Amino acid sequence: MVISYHYEAYCIPIVSMISTMEDIEQSGTLKKIGIQTETKDEVYKMAATFNRMVSKLKENSDKQRQFISDASHELKTPVTVISSFITILRRHGTQDETIAKEAIEAIYLETNRMKNLTKTLLSLAELEGSEPVDIKSVDLVSLSTALVTQFMQVYDRPIILHENSHSIFIKGDELKLKQVLIIFLDNAIKYSTDVIEVFLESDQHKGILRIKDYGIGIPEEEQSHVFERFYRVDKARKRDSGGSGLGLAIAKNIVNLHKGEIDIQSKEHAGTEIKVTFPLTN
Ligand SMILES: Nc1ncnc2c1ncn2[C@@H]1O[C@H](COP(=O)(O)OP(=O)(O)O)[C@@H](O)[C@H]1O
Ligand SMILES: [Mg+2]
Repeated sequence: MVISYHYEAYCIPIVSMISTMEDIEQSGTLKKIGIQTETKDEVYKMAATFNRMVSKLKENSDKQRQFISDASHELKTPVTVISSFITILRRHGTQDETIAKEAIEAIYLETNRMKNLTKTLLSLAELEGSEPVDIKSVDLVSLSTALVTQFMQVYDRPIILHENSHSIFIKGDELKLKQVLIIFLDNAIKYSTDVIEVFLESDQHKGILRIKDYGIGIPEEEQSHVFERFYRVDKARKRDSGGSGLGLAIAKNIVNLHKGEIDIQSKEHAGTEIKVTFPLTN
């Protein structure tokens, strides 16, 4: 009696596990194993682990599907615009110079948008799951100083750099770290009109970079989403300002690759502060 009870307790979950796995193999669809017993034996643990793995895989594949659908949608919009202007050109363009000029300008702008978007998408795809390639010691202070100077010149906006040490060395890929700073500064410029402040601090273990603006801010319920790919707080307006909602997703990826942490604090109509912490080179 005792033996057959044991046999059943172990055998049924294993049989059901095998049949679920075979099902997954044949249908290509992820499924969980039905766990009836609550006895926390090894078989139960194995089934529970398997189910957790299935959840993770499902989550990833859902994200991937969402990404493909968002990317296609983003690319479809400029293509639609371009194709409608080409239709206009074919119909009237060569006779009417005003229409021709307008159409060519629109096609030019949308082509550029597409070019930038595909470039951004490629760099995102490259970053995900990759390791930083060109690792060396990078000084956050000189990197920030150079970029801040450049941004002030290009955008004619005051940016104040506060630093508590002459150099803050972290290990990383200089170009990618530069890209992170550009993404943050670009947002601060786009979403505010006042002065922008950049703070650089370090303690024994970490280098801290903060970028603070006094602009439109982000509503509290949206803050946790801004690092998601394609997420824009104000969907309609951001398309006009050229944003694709990929900047912060890319920045987060790069910071993760450098074992850093990223944090956002924002208040609507008051401003936004992005804080990034990197481990120091020892
Ligand atoms: N400094 C900021 N101030 C206000 N809103 C911001 C700021 N930075 C990012 N956001 C919001 O987060 C969204 C995602 O940012 P990002 O990924 O850089 O995309 P975008 O290309 O739209 O700038 C933006 O569309 C914007 O709504
Ligand atoms: Mg941006």
